[in-house]
Amino acid sequence: MTDKLIIFDTTLRDGEQSPGASMTKDEKVRIAKALERMRVDVIEAGFPIASTGDFEAVQAVAKAVKDSRICGLSRALDADIDRAGEALKLANASRIHTFIATSPIHMKMKLRMEPDQVIENAVRAVKRARQYTDDVEFSPEDAGRSETDFLCRILEAVIDAGASTLNIPDTVGYNLPHQFGSLISTLRERIPNADKAIFSVHCHNDLGLAVANSLSAVMNGARQVECTINGLGERAGNAALEEIVMAVRTRQDMFPCDTDIDTQHILSASRLVSGITGFVVQPNKAIVGANAFAHESGIHQDGVLKNRETYEIMRAEDVGWNTNRMVLGKHSGRNAFRSRLQELGIELSSETDLNAAFTRFKELADKKHEVFDEDIQALVSDTVATA
Ligand code: KIV
Ligand code: ZN
Repeated sequence: MTDKLIIFDTTLRDGEQSPGASMTKDEKVRIAKALERMRVDVIEAGFPIASTGDFEAVQAVAKAVKDSRICGLSRALDADIDRAGEALKLANASRIHTFIATSPIHMKMKLRMEPDQVIENAVRAVKRARQYTDDVEFSPEDAGRSETDFLCRILEAVIDAGASTLNIPDTVGYNLPHQFGSLISTLRERIPNADKAIFSVHCHNDLGLAVANSLSAVMNGARQVECTINGLGERAGNAALEEIVMAVRTRQDMFPCDTDIDTQHILSASRLVSGITGFVVQPNKAIVGANAFAHESGIHQDGVLKNRETYEIMRAEDVGWNTNRMVLGKHSGRNAFRSRLQELGIELSSETDLNAAFTRFKELADKKHEVFDEDIQALVSDTVATA
């Protein structure tokens, strides 16, 4: 039987921490509704202690969304947890996500705490969060650079204190896929009460490995992935939701689990987030970039016109595109050109006319990045007129 892979979206929290990506309350509600429609399991709506605006945004999301669980972030501090508990009061299903750093550098230089104090604070925070909700997630921040023995100690203690999700963040995107996967399997094996909690991962993209690290963790037993639309997030971003979901869905032969995501809403969610934040999606971005299902070269176009699976491993329609796209340019071939003429309802009376039009098309294509339908209409009428 296929396990469920929980999708925890943090576009509204870690995504919003992207410099320049802050969102208003109404914008957060619009994005949260799009995530709910996509059947995201958990929506991290914000960090309620951060500002009054963020507190109100988490409250508004908690009120507006009924089908996804709403989560608020808090440090392992009483005031943070109380604020998160308050903001989530109206949620149908709530979660408090509390965290404290566990790497030697963070404990020493940032927290200025001894490891035992860090454990005490984590346990106290989880117990306090449990007074507001029975769904508490704990993250050892910078787990990717923490000592495994220490992670085992703190995670065992927070499970006993009532945490039901253990989120392992690679906060600075330092890990490599095999290393991160093996960290997850080691933690699952060595923590005596590990089976009482779900293992989650939260990977940053500083080395461009956030998605690969997350997938490696899933192959090693993680059953929640934290991710964001378009990979938005601190610095180089977080793992992109659309890539995680489509990798797992497309390669079901490799994964013992799948998500409940309705993938047809992926593209509209991507455009909504891009429009609201002003962060443009690069054309060659997987799944949601303008070129993700576009073909320009003659060899590829010919293959796709004969059978889409020659160069497409997913269906564009499954993630919300109307269809795939043939881009006419200097690498395009006669077959794609002929097929575009048919789509435009242009019938040339002879193969000679077609050849002449194709020659003019190639001349034009050498001067432009892309030949548009209007260009083709114009060059065909010129060709017919001069014939
Ligand atoms: O990157 C990180 O460690 C975080 C935590 C709050 C989970 O965002
Ligand atoms: Zn993060």
